[in-house]
Amino acid sequence: MKFVNSYKEKLKKYNDEHKLKYYIDTMGCQMNENDSLKYAGIFESMGFEKGDENNSNVYLFNTCCVRENAENTLFGRLGMLKKRKINNEEVYIAIVGCMTQQEHILEKIKKSYRFVDIVLGTSCMSIFPEKLYKAIIEGERKVEYIDMSNSLEEEVPIKYEDKYKASVSIIYGCNNFCSYCIVPYVRGRERSRKPEDIISDIKKLAKEGYKEIMLLGQNVNSYGNDFKEKYTFPMLLQDIEKIDGIEIIRFMSPHPKDFKDDLIEVIKNSSKIARQIHLPLQSGNTEILKKMNRKYTKEEYISLALKLKEIPDVSLSTDIIVGFPNETEQQFEDTLDVVKKVEFDQIYMFIYSKRNGTVAAKMEDEITYEQKVDRLERLKKLYEETLPKLNARMVGKTYKLIVEGKSKNNDKLYTGRTSQNKVVIFEADDSYIGKVVNVKIDSEHLWYLKGTIEK
Ligand code: 5AD
Ligand code: SF4
Repeated sequence: MKFVNSYKEKLKKYNDEHKLKYYIDTMGCQMNENDSLKYAGIFESMGFEKGDENNSNVYLFNTCCVRENAENTLFGRLGMLKKRKINNEEVYIAIVGCMTQQEHILEKIKKSYRFVDIVLGTSCMSIFPEKLYKAIIEGERKVEYIDMSNSLEEEVPIKYEDKYKASVSIIYGCNNFCSYCIVPYVRGRERSRKPEDIISDIKKLAKEGYKEIMLLGQNVNSYGNDFKEKYTFPMLLQDIEKIDGIEIIRFMSPHPKDFKDDLIEVIKNSSKIARQIHLPLQSGNTEILKKMNRKYTKEEYISLALKLKEIPDVSLSTDIIVGFPNETEQQFEDTLDVVKKVEFDQIYMFIYSKRNGTVAAKMEDEITYEQKVDRLERLKKLYEETLPKLNARMVGKTYKLIVEGKSKNNDKLYTGRTSQNKVVIFEADDSYIGKVVNVKIDSEHLWYLKGTIEK
């Protein structure tokens, strides 16, 4: 569906006089962050200016429901805005994203947060301008369930914050139904964007000077499964590789079960695909993986990870959940065992969080919260013990990177990320910003590396 905004001119005209400011509060994953860039693009195309947390008029909460806490955060923030509404300030509140796809949230808003103006779910950008117009001009305040989670919107304006790297969604939704995960229920079924739309977006970005592209999808290697003609994720990568100006291609997340040899070959033969691959493990125990509906075993995961590590300079990152219902000590130790064998450069660690409506939510769980926290700590410790050794392998070598900008703590130092996604700090000056340079790594400091530009 092509994004058409028939309210653009009307709201622009209103803003000529009222100069309303917008503020977007994004929770959750990179997919949500990408959606928020689109909402920012929509706001700006209608003459809204970017404001901050305290001085804005339209507050858009782009919500997440993958793990706990987000609900409390949202309702806390709404409470704060209520005061400004009561004081008759021109304030509008919109809630969009994954959380509002759940009925209990809608009921809660209807009951206790009646001052909210707009509530929309996921993939609702095409109706957002209309809802905004109605809220601002007609004073409409509506909490309704509009399910557009299976739609695919094209040509939505997007406002990137970064100048050199940009994220591009290639597939929406998920068909995997991992037993702990709410995403398939709130983001609908897998829909792949047409290759020509993706390529044309990336060509435009390259022309504007973007050098690094992050391809996004809940499960990127399912890309193309919904096409009649064969066009796969590895084929898409090869086509993106041909685009002049793009230096680094990243993607997240692939599912280990769909990571086939053709994809490994394409990565191996590419000079642009990042030497960092995110390969979500979730658990290192085969029985737990079965209960999670992940469709691979401990051994299959290890063998895939080690195969990927044979590609020179490749680093791996992963997601791990500890404390899945009734995970035993032995089963948790299998996770530690995989972490020891694979040696990840980055691990996103989560304590299992029960999501109502998922299969795992009905599973018995005798593990205490303290035990789960203890496992998280042990995993963290193991990870931090491995990291210096992995970093040390990079010392003395030279890596190509894009100079992103000044380091926060020191005026003379600049930062960039290697293809392996390692932060490097080095001396440079403003003329280097946005340029691709070769940096020799001098030393490692756990969370970053220090280096020198080679001239
Ligand atoms: N509890 C804890 N972590 C979860 N994730 C997804 N659902 C849950 C849950 N219910 C984690 C997974 C996923 C990442 C984005 O969030 O590790 O890969
Ligand atoms: Fe959730 Fe699994 Fe889909 Fe990832 S692959 S979004 S964890 S259901």
